[in-house]
Amino acid sequence: MSIVTNKELLTRAKAGHYAVPAFNTNNLEYTQAILRAADELNSPVIIEAAKSEIDYMDGHVFVAMVKAMTEKLSIPVGIHLDHGPSYEEVIRCINYGFKSVMYDGSSFPLEKNIAVTKEVVAAAHAAGISVEGEIGVIGQAADSPEGKKNDMIGLADPAECERYVKESGVDCFAAAIGNAHGIYTRKPELRFDLLAEIEKRTGVPLVLHGGTGIPEDDLRKAITMGVSKINFSTVMRKGCIETLVETLNKNPGDWDLMKMLNPSWNKMKEIAKQHIVMCMSDHKV
Ligand code: 13P
Repeated sequence: MSIVTNKELLTRAKAGHYAVPAFNTNNLEYTQAILRAADELNSPVIIEAAKSEIDYMDGHVFVAMVKAMTEKLSIPVGIHLDHGPSYEEVIRCINYGFKSVMYDGSSFPLEKNIAVTKEVVAAAHAAGISVEGEIGVIGQAADSPEGKKNDMIGLADPAECERYVKESGVDCFAAAIGNAHGIYTRKPELRFDLLAEIEKRTGVPLVLHGGTGIPEDDLRKAITMGVSKINFSTVMRKGCIETLVETLNKNPGDWDLMKMLNPSWNKMKEIAKQHIVMCMSDHKV
């Protein structure tokens, strides 16, 4: 179908009680696997990339690639900047043709986070692009090992979330509720009490980062409580690399690159399908 804003995708998802899966991507195989999985399951999907991924692929090439791959599909697709580190990076991505951007000012004091997010929102909205923000600090799962509670992760304060949304004008935001990026070394303990309070005070669609390894029941519960976008990255990279290593070990001395990459491509498609179903976004187009 077409490239649409995250605002459009998330508004529909919230009303329909599902979440739109957002997969980070690194290259052509990765992106194609995600889009084919979503198309086969009739699911909306967001292709997202963080600064390092955009620099690796080249922003212009990335956007042109997603647009070309989407042309003949019948699903709505978002092109999103993940964890934009600065106002300048956001503007760069708007110029590349992204339809949605995240500005992550969560490491700054609230005042500064609000001030910069407000500038980002003004520029992005003027260009018809939606904005995701972040409150609390969503860290790395590896920094919060077994035995330690959520004290390594800066949980979002609902009052700060309310002020942030009102003053900055963001379309959606990610709140730290016990989730973290990467492989969890212990079962993540999502703070559903915080999620309920944040949803009540803000009303905008919520985003859950660190989707890799969160049990399906917890993902579904979060969706019923207002989470409308879930980010997945590590699970796809892990599946791709593990399968690639396996294939290379099985075929020493075979320099047919397409043959070596094909099993990884299929693995990523399979993982994407599993996570689309977890988000309950299948057959919603
Ligand atoms: P995971 O790598 O834990 O899936 O997190 C992805 C993410 O939240 C990207 O912003």
